[in-house]
Amino acid sequence: MKALIHENKEGMDGLSYRDVEPATQKSGEVRIRIKAAGLNHRDLSVLKRHQPTDPPFIVGSDGAGVVEAIGADVNTVSVGDEVIVNPGLGWQKNSDAPPKGFEILGFPDDGTFAENIVIAAKNVEPKPAHLTWEESGVLALPALTAYRVLFTRARIEPNMKILIPGIGGGVATFLLQFAKAIGATVYVTSRSEEKRNKALELGANAAIDSHENWAEALHGEKMDVAIESIGATTFNESLDQLRRGGTMVTFGSSTDDQVQLNIRKFFYGQFNLLGSTMGSREELQAMLDFIKKHNIKPIMDQTFPLKDYEKGFKRMAEAAQLGKIGFTL
Ligand SMILES: NC(=O)c1ccc[n+]([C@@H]2O[C@H](COP(=O)([O-])OP(=O)(O)OC[C@H]3O[C@@H](n4cnc5c(N)ncnc54)[C@H](OP(=O)(O)O)[C@@H]3O)[C@@H](O)[C@H]2O)c1
Repeated sequence: MKALIHENKEGMDGLSYRDVEPATQKSGEVRIRIKAAGLNHRDLSVLKRHQPTDPPFIVGSDGAGVVEAIGADVNTVSVGDEVIVNPGLGWQKNSDAPPKGFEILGFPDDGTFAENIVIAAKNVEPKPAHLTWEESGVLALPALTAYRVLFTRARIEPNMKILIPGIGGGVATFLLQFAKAIGATVYVTSRSEEKRNKALELGANAAIDSHENWAEALHGEKMDVAIESIGATTFNESLDQLRRGGTMVTFGSSTDDQVQLNIRKFFYGQFNLLGSTMGSREELQAMLDFIKKHNIKPIMDQTFPLKDYEKGFKRMAEAAQLGKIGFTL
């Protein structure tokens, strides 16, 4: 089968689209013919963690396709079922944090950027009927992350004001759609005027230029919740926009991980700082019900055939996208 492999070199130079031996399913596993897959920021960052001396691996966390074969003992899924892959390995039930051993598909385990994937039957869910293959392929990781951040961690309510910096991000567009679906007021930032205009079309109440003074642009409006994934570059600017007693959730650091924090300002402000990562299978199922109920579809940036993977990776490395970059197979 064809797959996108990473080997021998660090970063994007180590990627190649080539033939590999397909895996066969064992007891409790299913084999899926992948029809569409989704690119996440993680797919770029793992290329730095995977060392040239390590064995090759198949990239990709998100994908959707048709079940082609099932192992013994599988009775929740049948051959021919249309499914999405849950990339959260080893997190079934809701809990404060992922259980020990939790991993995300697509490093170190082989991922979804391949014609076939073999995965545990408990890691597939029915494809949402209102979504296309491309929309289903990009959904699970970013939408699950956004769902847990908003509803489990920040516990947002319709009357709240939410700040989402960096609206171009794949998770950020789901954050905007989900928060608007429950009636919250949403402020976004972006470095791109085009993305700010698009965010306003998608329902953002205001869109701020990331380069300007955010407090001035917000005219003194304070936020109940700020959701940070850009990291060091914007962390303190986001924190400064919170009302006293407000909550910041952080789930990413596209720029630097190291942040300087004025703890006196922090404790006087009585702020809450929460971390979040992905979510459980139960949260994924709740997210799927939520998008069905509100008829939410992923905001697609561009879709490329997987053989043209370089175009998608380059677009994400340059942060040129708004929403999700997809691959078809
Ligand atoms: N913990 C988890 O479970 C989890 C899950 C998913 C993602 N993540 C992390 O969350 C982050 C976002 O992921 P994603 O896939 O949504 O990323 P993405 O699509 O690559 O988006 C990142 C966005 O951040 C903004 N940004 C990047 N560099 C910036 C800078 N120097 N200054 C200001 N803004 C900047 C850009 O927004 P504009 O172009 O609009 O300015 C960009 O579109 C990544 O760090 C990712 O690793 C974590």
